[in-house]
Amino acid sequence: MKIVLAPMDGLTDSYARDILTRIGGFDLCVTEFLRVTDTLFPQRVFYRRFPELNPNNTQVISHTSSGIPVFLQLLGSDPQAMAENAAKAVALGSQGIDLNFGCPAKTVNRREGGASLLQYPERIYQLVQSVRQAVPEQIPVTAKMRLGYDDPSLAMDNALAIENGGADWVTVHARTKLDGYRPPAYWEALAPVRKALAIPVIANGEIWSVDDYLLCRQKSQCEDVMLGRGAMVIPDLALQIKYKTGQLSHEHYKPLSWTDVVKHLEQLYLLMSTNTALKERYIAPRLKLWVKWLMPTYTQAEDIFSELKKIRNAGDAIKLIQDSSKAVD
Ligand SMILES: Cc1cc2nc3c(=O)[nH]c(=O)nc-3n(C[C@H](O)[C@H](O)[C@H](O)COP(=O)(O)O)c2cc1C
Repeated sequence: MKIVLAPMDGLTDSYARDILTRIGGFDLCVTEFLRVTDTLFPQRVFYRRFPELNPNNTQVISHTSSGIPVFLQLLGSDPQAMAENAAKAVALGSQGIDLNFGCPAKTVNRREGGASLLQYPERIYQLVQSVRQAVPEQIPVTAKMRLGYDDPSLAMDNALAIENGGADWVTVHARTKLDGYRPPAYWEALAPVRKALAIPVIANGEIWSVDDYLLCRQKSQCEDVMLGRGAMVIPDLALQIKYKTGQLSHEHYKPLSWTDVVKHLEQLYLLMSTNTALKERYIAPRLKLWVKWLMPTYTQAEDIFSELKKIRNAGDAIKLIQDSSKAVD
């Protein structure tokens, strides 16, 4: 069973990927989408979106500090530009390329990228094929799609287009673009796709607990999953799933306490503070964002949030977070 950390623009940046893979349970990360128009990006654009590619930042290129591979996600509709950028990313060391056919954002869809392409399986086929042909055979090319644009009637056609285009696997977010992020996720709609395809299908959407994983597995018939927001709320959700399904032994599993979480936030703070390119004013909001996501799981996060919200200085923010772990865990 494989667990992939979802790309989430504005949430799973390289710092989040670093923290969450250090906590563990993930087998792969995908970067936030890089939107391709008709140009070949210079190296610095790849490094900005995908700092794990930059040899100055990392011990092993295209891996997080705990050794988990990271794929670059590209979003666009021009097969040639997508292929050229994919080839460049691979030349810079990207371990794989993921193609985004699921983004519901208006700006992206107006320019025919992301989920809008789900109306045209033939174009999806061409995009996957073009990227597949541009990168070496041993580099995985994968795709992430939703069930459809307005409705799920083309789900199978799109999944087959992705397979026939030469993708190594496909992740399916079990909702249409029209559904947005409104629950539920239609996990059962993945089962026929899983059955029809020879390549692996990774289920995604609304997995917030181990029970959700088990139900999703049963309904979708997919063992592999991608976790998004659930991993922000329960940072050790991937570990919990592996433990409860017997993939991880008792000795290798310890529930993540608030004290543990605070240590990871300290590390996040240190990493961000030592990055000279990162503006100081970015760091406190980032810490607040994390604590906010953690509130449903940790009462300590809830207890400090109203005070934390008022703080602008990153040093004061991390101090408040550190102090909260000195109380009984
Ligand atoms: C804030 C946010 C940003 C997202 N950005 C991306 C993205 O860059 N690329 C992508 O393929 N999906 C993106 N997604 C979709 C997620 O990868 C995932 O498919 C979705 O959140 C459903 O999974 P979840 O219920 O586990 O969160 C984003 C989702 C959120 C909430």
